Amino acid sequence: MSESLQHIAIIMDGNGRWAKKQNKERSFGHRIGADSAREIITHCRALNISYLTLYAFSKENWARPKDEISTLFSLLTEFLTKELQTLLKNDICLKLIGTFDNLPITTKTALKYACEKTKNCTGMVLNLALDYSSRNEIFLATQKFALLEKEKQTEENFQNLFFTAHQIDPDLLIRTGGEKRLSNFLLYQLAYTELYFSDTFWPDFTPNELDEIIKKFYQRQRRFGKIPE
Ligand code: FPP
Repeated sequence: MSESLQHIAIIMDGNGRWAKKQNKERSFGHRIGADSAREIITHCRALNISYLTLYAFSKENWARPKDEISTLFSLLTEFLTKELQTLLKNDICLKLIGTFDNLPITTKTALKYACEKTKNCTGMVLNLALDYSSRNEIFLATQKFALLEKEKQTEENFQNLFFTAHQIDPDLLIRTGGEKRLSNFLLYQLAYTELYFSDTFWPDFTPNELDEIIKKFYQRQRRFGKIPE
């Protein structure tokens, strides 16, 4: 039996391929993908998960066509505005992991407002990864760490320079969409995380499938490098 599941991280992949399968624009896949995100967020809260981390936009995603980027950010902005009441009602604290300054102004405004409004919520932390790159996160932490006095250069202080400072590491990482890679997501934090890859495209991912994956998580034995007792 594994230890309890407190932190789930998800790479929400497959929106584009899902849309193509229905002969629709990629943006339609992202729109339905946002609905899946909403369902999974409230489901994780109902399951009493403490941290949910969603990979919504990577630094590498800036290389996508301009209209896809603008659709994604308008969906995200709409989500942050429309779902703020849901976050508050469910006692969910929203946090950004990624570079705030590079986001479009409308997203910045909605994000700042939602983070501020939900900052005292204690039911669950929702980390939204936007303009995120794990290598960049490690690089920035290292730069700051080098400026600390020698006595303060501890491993704990290093970890607390990450966007995920003071949080526990993910217990379970799920990637939908069939690919088996980490795509520059939480490379440091995933050291002992259980990885689960689903072939389901993100817009088709349901709370039921999440429940099934969680059942499998509890059947895995986590050893953290030790020998089982
Ligand atoms: C990957 O699918 C998905 C993204 C790059 C964006 C994820 C964004 C959402 C699910 C919508 C908004 C999110 C929230 C939290 C409201 P892809 O486009 O790479 O799909 P493909 O691999 O099939 O091309």
